[in-house]
Amino acid sequence: MSFWDRFKKDKPAAAASRVVSTDELTASLRSKARGAKVSAADVASLCQELGIAQEQAYVALAMMDNTSLATEHEVQFVICTGNCLERGAMACLHELIALRDSRLSAELPAFDIVPRRCLTRCQVAPAVEVRSSAGTAVLANATPKALKEAVGDLF
Ligand code: FES
Repeated sequence: MSFWDRFKKDKPAAAASRVVSTDELTASLRSKARGAKVSAADVASLCQELGIAQEQAYVALAMMDNTSLATEHEVQFVICTGNCLERGAMACLHELIALRDSRLSAELPAFDIVPRRCLTRCQVAPAVEVRSSAGTAVLANATPKALKEAVGDLF
């Protein structure tokens, strides 16, 4: 069972989301990019157009060599969506997207979600780094609950 199938089993809302091939997704993301950067808003609208959950696009973005996310906030949550997916990173990514989108909807300060193939912190998977002007904090063995608390502490 793929990570995505396993995730859909755990998250019934994600079950409605179809899955597109990585090739289709990366080509679509590339078409939305300005220069080598794609905005979070463009990722969200692309996912809506394709009828897929945003998690798929973030995982695909981490695999792309020439396209990355344009950061626009002072705080970045950098999340490993490589092998950390085997250790719960998909649920963490889901939580981060929900937290960010709810803050944006409420017009509150938000954060970027930056996916990476590996943060070289595999021993504490799933690994998330919180980067801000204060420096970088590592969330070892991240969980959705820990991320929610981190967002609550930061803003
Ligand atoms: S695979 Fe996730 S930190 Fe290395």
